[in-house]
Amino acid sequence: MPKFQIIDNNNYINLPDSIKFNSKDKIVNRNGSYHQENDLTDMYRLISKKELKLEYKKRIINGFIGVLIVVCSFGIAFFFKFIKNLFKVKENIRFGVKYTIDEKELNGDIIINENIISKIKFFFNKITNRQGDDDIKFYNSQYNNRVFELKDVPGLIFKMNYNNAEDRYKKMINAHYVLRINSLALLVLPHAKIFDVNVNGESHKIIAEQKLNIIVNESMQESLFYNSKEKLNDTIKQLALFICKTGYSDVEFRNNPIINNENGIMDEKNKIALLDIEETAGAEIGLFRGFCRSGLIALVDKENNDAIKNIAQENNISIDNFESAVEIQKNKLMNYSDLQIFYKRKNISTGSEEIVVNIESLDLNIEDESKTNYAGTVMLVKLKDVAKAVIIKINELIQKNDKDNSIKGRRFIKLKMSGNLQKYSKFTYEYNGEESWVGKIIHSLVNKNHIFKLIRKVEQTYHIQA
Ligand SMILES: Nc1ncnc2c1ncn2[C@@H]1O[C@H](COP(=O)(O)OP(=O)(O)O)[C@@H](O)[C@H]1O
Ligand SMILES: [Mg+2]
Repeated sequence: MPKFQIIDNNNYINLPDSIKFNSKDKIVNRNGSYHQENDLTDMYRLISKKELKLEYKKRIINGFIGVLIVVCSFGIAFFFKFIKNLFKVKENIRFGVKYTIDEKELNGDIIINENIISKIKFFFNKITNRQGDDDIKFYNSQYNNRVFELKDVPGLIFKMNYNNAEDRYKKMINAHYVLRINSLALLVLPHAKIFDVNVNGESHKIIAEQKLNIIVNESMQESLFYNSKEKLNDTIKQLALFICKTGYSDVEFRNNPIINNENGIMDEKNKIALLDIEETAGAEIGLFRGFCRSGLIALVDKENNDAIKNIAQENNISIDNFESAVEIQKNKLMNYSDLQIFYKRKNISTGSEEIVVNIESLDLNIEDESKTNYAGTVMLVKLKDVAKAVIIKINELIQKNDKDNSIKGRRFIKLKMSGNLQKYSKFTYEYNGEESWVGKIIHSLVNKNHIFKLIRKVEQTYHIQA
């Protein structure tokens, strides 16, 4: 590694930069090296790299030592780089200035003016009630939080009512340190600034964040991650290190989406965002999963596993849960690839294709009849009628899903016994251990390859991957 010199200011290095200097702005310690356990009070930012002539005296001494060693070793020593360097007239030197982490770096160019504050005050009721319209757009967030965008303030996302906004903001400052110190340039923490808004004598802390260009949909992110595979290897390593250094644990596609460039295509550098780094329940959870938390392994392809495990070990994080995380990942990946094969075989390319079913071919006793009491009237119902209604409802739900979703997302539906199905709700219950009619119909649709899978039944709602 080239020599490193600490300087007070830029004045005396007015030579042009040497040609190759990829490390500009990286943070090093006093010896000029990276990735050390950095002492936060003693850091330096690389500002320049120059090729300088060695002092005359030094050249003479180096040359003398060099000749001596070469002669003593009968010329053999000359083949060693270290000895060759003794005869150099010029040397590369990297220059660094003292670096103290400054909150302003996190703030970027975010300015909170009176206009923004008065807008938030004006919409305060809507914000508390999560009442989205043309003026305010809400993002899916935790129950206690409000994440929103104001039409008149483009480029910013506001986050309000976090249990402790100041604490969250402090974690962002710390994350910024960790990214800078470890040169984790593939992870993008949005610029952020905290400010107060006073409504009816009460002060509310709000975080304003730079809006990053991401696809919000989680299922889209899942397919982006799986389709980017090796392009993301370095990014995943950086995220693993970030998790180890901070204990960040809410690692999910929705919180760590891939960043697009202006054209909506994935950035060639494959960066991912750190949108929600508030939760720091520990690196073991962040890497290998925890209660209601996927963990990094579940988000990535198996090619990344060894690297993640190594990074955990290097950072003294227990790998007790590594194997079980890999097992879950294996099932997830298999399921994902089976689904892709299923769609290919069925020529499903947009996601909104309807299922077309010949009810006679479903291996059901379609002539079975039963009475049901609906709205005070007793009706005689055939299993065939229920099957028809279920298929119509599945197709309706597929059509209704968000067009910006992935194919998988568009074909994930929650079939509830409501609307036209309401009158058949009796048939979702099981009698005397016998499977319900609706259950039988769905299983038959799966067995006959009309739909991919019944994922689960939650009370009276069937979660289906069609
Ligand atoms: N800086 C941002 N740029 C773009 N989208 C964002 C940004 N911050 C949040 N979002 C969107 O809003 C959602 C909720 O924000 P998040 O901070 O994760 O809230 P919560 O902490 O309640 O989960 C994210 O999943 C993401 O889709
Ligand atoms: Mg979140």
